[in-house]
Amino acid sequence: MDIGIDKLNFFTSDMYVDMGELAETRKEDPNKYLIGIGQKKQAVIPNSQDSVTLAANAAGKIVDDFERKNIDLILFGTESGVDSSKSAAVYLQGLLKINPQASGVELKQACFGLTAGIQLAMGHIMMNPNSRVLLVGSDIARYGINTPGEPTQGGGAVAMIMSAKPSILKINPGNAHLTKDIMDFWRPLYRKEALVDGKYSSREFIDFFDQTFNEYKERENLSTSDFDALIFHLPYTKMGLKALRIGLQGESKEVQQRLFDQFDASKQLNAEVGNLYTGSLYLSLISLLKKGKLKDNDLIGLFSYGSGAEGEFFTANTVPGFKSVLENLDISWLDNRRQVTVSEYEDIYKASLEFTDRNFLTGFKQDKSEFKFMGQTNQQRMYK
Ligand code: COA
Repeated sequence: MDIGIDKLNFFTSDMYVDMGELAETRKEDPNKYLIGIGQKKQAVIPNSQDSVTLAANAAGKIVDDFERKNIDLILFGTESGVDSSKSAAVYLQGLLKINPQASGVELKQACFGLTAGIQLAMGHIMMNPNSRVLLVGSDIARYGINTPGEPTQGGGAVAMIMSAKPSILKINPGNAHLTKDIMDFWRPLYRKEALVDGKYSSREFIDFFDQTFNEYKERENLSTSDFDALIFHLPYTKMGLKALRIGLQGESKEVQQRLFDQFDASKQLNAEVGNLYTGSLYLSLISLLKKGKLKDNDLIGLFSYGSGAEGEFFTANTVPGFKSVLENLDISWLDNRRQVTVSEYEDIYKASLEFTDRNFLTGFKQDKSEFKFMGQTNQQRMYK
């Protein structure tokens, strides 16, 4: 049975800060951010958006009445959840009015959560061939103003529906997986901003890729030249480029050119949005599908990494006719986002909320998104 992605969408806020301008304000050479880190714009997320509303805004466009009736599982990957007990999947079920027979859970392992969901969905659909599973990866990446991690912030959500007989991507069974208990990036419960040892994380990322990629090729009897594209979790686009350079060592010029060109297409949207944490690999997938040179049945290798750390390499093939299905996936709105100044971005950042027991309202009245976080009353979150 073919199982994979039948529908796909993503969402981020309608505001961004320009990375060249941010670099100048931080007294850095703009090329450090634009080339050295590889980011052009960074999504600025207002306090009227949280991981639940970002997910609802991404999923709302692919959940129609048919899906509302037929989705039987909601898998919500996030590392910026809003409650230690109630899962974001249940909030999402309520906001999107998905039938109450569907079950839902939240999955956490840093940026790996959505990939874990994909593997769970594969098994679930295998046992329930009529199933339709809604998956989201939704996060806000915060490191703090004027920190080394600042140019690698961002936020947004990717939503997908997985099913048997998918129309976009067939996910192949099998993967190569690695888990190692390390402290490269983490966020203790009392912190809003992540702690990161960026250089160490980057070395581990490359090592995890190298090991899982080689393990996968050996298990499946594949060579690097069999791949039509290799894509990565992209906390910042230079990270994927560094890993790809290692992966392509010793390959012919033609193979290197082809895979570097496809990677270039796969990083375009990430360079415009920034880090999505759980959604980053899948934003890169959308970028590749929309901007790359893919044909029907092409083989894509996907590397997922969640600090702490888990890494997984798996593959998927494009489904014949995927290009016409993807015409429904509109990304043109990204060009119409509003640029905010660095000082506006800092004000919006500072207005992001601590977890507190008091009542408050967010700036939801200025937010034009379909789903908004309004604030809190009697320690309960209110959504619109
Ligand atoms: N022109 C072009 N490139 C430049 C440059 C310039 N003027 N100035 C610096 N650079 C390059 C550096 O050579 C470096 O490239 P390299 O990594 O290929 O060597 C890159 O820009 C970054 O410079 P660096 O001095 O290493 O930056 P930094 O110490 O400020 O840290 C990160 C950068 C990415 C490590 C930091 O932003 C970070 O920790 N981010 C969080 C990463 C993360 O989320 N990890 C966990 C999830 S996987």
